Amino acid sequence: MPEATDVIRREHATISAMIGVLEEMLARYVDGRPYSAQDMPGVVNFFMRFADALHHAKEERVLFPAILRHDPQSLLMLDEILEDHQRMRVVIADITAAIAAADPAAYFDAVNGYIRLARQHIRRENEVLLPLADAYLSPQEQQQLAGALVALHQQMLTAAEVESLTHYQCEVVDRYCAS
Ligand SMILES: [Fe+2]
Ligand SMILES: [Fe+2]
Repeated sequence: MPEATDVIRREHATISAMIGVLEEMLARYVDGRPYSAQDMPGVVNFFMRFADALHHAKEERVLFPAILRHDPQSLLMLDEILEDHQRMRVVIADITAAIAAADPAAYFDAVNGYIRLARQHIRRENEVLLPLADAYLSPQEQQQLAGALVALHQQMLTAAEVESLTHYQCEVVDRYCAS
């Protein structure tokens, strides 16, 4: 079984690829090039389900409490990271509302905010938080937490939904980001 922190890193790579899709959609909109507006709800659904319901739950319920047990002083940083998760939820709700209102200027404005927030957030977790977790967690703890991540994964999303989200992610990344 991969270590718990590697599971989180791999999900960051998957989410980052999808942020690349948002960046490409935004660039096309800004340049006046065509993009498929009908892709936007699917992309937003990926961020709601995979990035928030699944990935953030894994961090909030499994990884962060483990870091906190080793280092109570990390509370301040973890609070800031939790605030980021909450901010991203708010921005995704703004994007969803703008899509429902068929208002591209509003949703691309919110998309721009989401891209900056999510990129900065993942960079901080990859460069600061995960190395800290690697330093604190023993190999046994990493394995134990990895097991907890698998259990949570199965609880949050059905296998069919994971497959559908992953398939969609690959398809849309191919379509927007293949050079
Ligand atoms: Fe996070
Ligand atoms: Fe994360």
